[in-house]
Amino acid sequence: MPNPLPYLRAVLWSFLGIRQRSSATAEQQQLKPLPLIAAAVVLAAVFVLVLLALASSASAAPLQVPDTLAQRALACTGCHGPQGRASQQGYIPRIAGKPAGYLHAQLLAFRDGRRQHDGMARLLGNLDDDYLAELAAYFAGLKVPYPAPAPVRGTGESRALGERLVRHGDAAHGLPACVSCHGAALTGVNPAIPGLLGLPRDYLVAQLGAWRVQIRQARAPDCMAALAQRMQPLDIAAVADWLAAQPLPADAGPAPRPSQALPTPCGSTEP
Ligand code: HEC
Ligand code: HEC
Repeated sequence: MPNPLPYLRAVLWSFLGIRQRSSATAEQQQLKPLPLIAAAVVLAAVFVLVLLALASSASAAPLQVPDTLAQRALACTGCHGPQGRASQQGYIPRIAGKPAGYLHAQLLAFRDGRRQHDGMARLLGNLDDDYLAELAAYFAGLKVPYPAPAPVRGTGESRALGERLVRHGDAAHGLPACVSCHGAALTGVNPAIPGLLGLPRDYLVAQLGAWRVQIRQARAPDCMAALAQRMQPLDIAAVADWLAAQPLPADAGPAPRPSQALPTPCGSTEP
């Protein structure tokens, strides 16, 4: 077997394109073709192995991003505000601190088309029910401050109408009081009825409008759809103006599940 060194040296020099002294060129003229090819193959293999080793050591130490719900929720808080505590300024609703069962039902509704929002539907499209329940529990557990109430709007008459409908309903039109389901303090009732304070006026108007035309649907019997269909546009505006202008009580969390039945049954409150 010939001495491999001159072969390896010759291949390396030609790989690297180094010009050689005439004594080295003379040495190369003695080399035989087959061992020369073998030396080239060995060097190329060593080169590939070194590259593979580098690549696998790079993937063995991936970028360290903590895989927590807080980290994943960043996809949501870009729209819903830090910690999901959206303000009264825009349209997007707050999600922090709402009853977990309610939030879960809404995530399923956006994913499955019973509520409409393209961005959320895309984001939730591949997430399963259990994962959405975890996300809902995460936001339900965030107890963060509420925005200041919106400025008072409307005439004295429409404010009185808004407050009357919220507190007492309108028996003549089959409209139960909002407080009879959403809690005396309007901060929601566990596990599935949301609060009505701290939400932008335009969001409230849009939701009641969406129920009237059935582009928002809750589980049957859909009590909110029946109720919104009995409200006139002026009633909706009056109620939304009044609700958006109310300050939050000190304890803004949802009330415990009540022992008495709701004035009309709502599918979304059943397990
Ligand atoms: C592109 C902006 C955007 C992103 C991102 C987004 N949302 Fe939303 N979300 C909205 C808008 C707008 C609405 C109100 C839609 C409507 O009109 O019904 C909404 C509504 C909701 C509601 C219903 C709130 C209620 O009171 O009924 C929940 C719950 C919610 N989002 C949770 C999430 C979660 C969890 C994520 C992250 C996985 C997320 N959203 C990501 C814009 C967004
Ligand atoms: C019979 C019980 C009941 C009454 C009365 C009631 N609600 Fe509701 N409301 C619900 C339930 C249950 C939900 C949750 C529906 C779902 O799962 O989407 C809801 C949800 C809502 C929402 C959606 C909130 C959000 O964050 O998207 C609004 C707005 C609302 N109600 C307004 C009102 C107003 C205004 C009144 C009074 C005029 C009223 N509700 C009376 C049961 C009721």
